[in-house]
Amino acid sequence: MIYILILILIISTIATIMMSSIIIGLVMTGGVPFISTNKKDFKAILKAVDLKPNEVIYDLGCGKAHLLIYASKYFGAKGVGYELTLWPYLWAKLKIHLSQAQVKVFRQNFFRADLTKADVVFCYLFPEVMAKLEPKFAQELKSGSRVVSYGFKLPSKPADKTVITNDDNTELGKIYVYKY
Ligand SMILES: C[S@@+](CC[C@H](N)C(=O)[O-])C[C@H]1O[C@@H](n2cnc3c(N)ncnc32)[C@H](O)[C@@H]1O
Repeated sequence: MIYILILILIISTIATIMMSSIIIGLVMTGGVPFISTNKKDFKAILKAVDLKPNEVIYDLGCGKAHLLIYASKYFGAKGVGYELTLWPYLWAKLKIHLSQAQVKVFRQNFFRADLTKADVVFCYLFPEVMAKLEPKFAQELKSGSRVVSYGFKLPSKPADKTVITNDDNTELGKIYVYKY
């Protein structure tokens, strides 16, 4: 009986920590929730942006860093992620440790990140956030770098390439590549 009570206590503590981390994360990110990019699109995203071995790829709002780990494992790239929401950040740290991928994640607002060393920047964010990032990209990204956005376009800069992996009319599966 006591073991069942302890188990219930542990499960409810974990659930409370996760729920409060989600709510605090939503407040900190201005309402951008943690939703993972569809795993089946990882390869299409990284091929669309022509990611090469040893290139440095940033994921702004990296969640559990799954795309960065994939990029390190299958493309030989180096990953850098920024994530404000606590539980996906901790999950990312654990996955990186277990996979030994060449990926670093920071619990930091990506608007304060220095993007000058990025070869590729990946985003799966909201249109309002893309609009705020567009001048930062123009200011900081080096010549030859690329931005690849899943689902949402930059408002002003025309995409150099668009890849669509689905045949329905949703944003998911739409990949936009921008060259700088
Ligand atoms: C839609 S999810 C995408 C997760 C991951 N990039 C993926 O594709 O699987 C967006 C993530 O961005 C994070 N985020 C939003 N604004 C942020 C900010 N200013 N700084 C750091 N992380 C942020 C959210 O916490 C959320 O986990």
